Amino acid sequence: MSADTTPRPPRPTLSDFHGVSMVHYFTDNWEKVQNFKARPDDILVATYPKAGTTWASYILDLLYFSLRQPDRMTSAPIYERVPFLEMHIPNFMTGTDFADNLDTTPRLIKTHLPVQLVPKSFWEQKCRVVYVARNAKDNAVSYFHFDRMNFAHPEPGDWNSYLQRFMDGKMVFGSWYDHVTGWWERKQSCPEIHYMFFEDMVEDTGREIEKLCSFLGLGSTAEEKQQIRDLVQFDTMKKDDMANYSTVPVMDFKVSPFMRKGKVGDWKNHFTTTQNEQFDEDYKKKMKNTTLQFRTEV
Ligand code: PPS
Repeated sequence: MSADTTPRPPRPTLSDFHGVSMVHYFTDNWEKVQNFKARPDDILVATYPKAGTTWASYILDLLYFSLRQPDRMTSAPIYERVPFLEMHIPNFMTGTDFADNLDTTPRLIKTHLPVQLVPKSFWEQKCRVVYVARNAKDNAVSYFHFDRMNFAHPEPGDWNSYLQRFMDGKMVFGSWYDHVTGWWERKQSCPEIHYMFFEDMVEDTGREIEKLCSFLGLGSTAEEKQQIRDLVQFDTMKKDDMANYSTVPVMDFKVSPFMRKGKVGDWKNHFTTTQNEQFDEDYKKKMKNTTLQFRTEV
């Protein structure tokens, strides 16, 4: 399938799905998603959209497979090596079929589902989960540019109204606030969840790879970890067609690239002073009952 020749699906509209704003491209296959049979060694990469899913997926794929089998890196894009469980886009194999067809052990599987919608077999099998969270302001900015170029999501409209909808939780996969805190609360009683922050990955990628290895019980050598750190630098991944999503037909890179800036603090180029004050005030109210803390600069 070529990104240039495959017709784009029509932009969907948001609707309520079990209390979460969703679009049908991620709920049409719900029966199979809910009944997905996870295996004990499956590893789930879970995030709110635009929090660093591809980065974490790429690191995991290198740790488990691609560093030792470099052919794998050039033979299939990252979204096939780490399939998106709930995806159901026309002319594309469903996420559950992709996952069922994986012949690797472990299987690496991506989801954007809020914690309460994750298929129960992942919990029954005590699968390990790598959750990545990103500060709300940069997450909103990254999501805005993504929604401009991604035809599987509704039209974003202008930035001001988009930011309001972000604060209202009217985004695909629902409220950022509920997502990051829902997974954070679950992590407190679930040692199978490793909770990471995008900002920490930017600050010191090597340290975060180290922590991941320790969570996963991987004995990668210092040299291997150094190689991975180099391979997952933003500029390297941006140039790599197997990592940068340029092969996906539902995205228009002329509008905005998938690998856009990869920075902490780009929100400062988007938020006006008034928007920032309103956002901060609302944020305090929404996040007042959680111990979860984010950094908006590093
Ligand atoms: S998606 O569509 O939800 O799967 O997107 P996701 O991969 O979660 O997030 C995309 C953002 O992550 C940035 N990114 C990186 N930043 C730094 N270093 C590396 N290696 C890297 N890989 C991906 C990507 O650029 C998107 O952020 P923005 O701010 O839009 O640039």
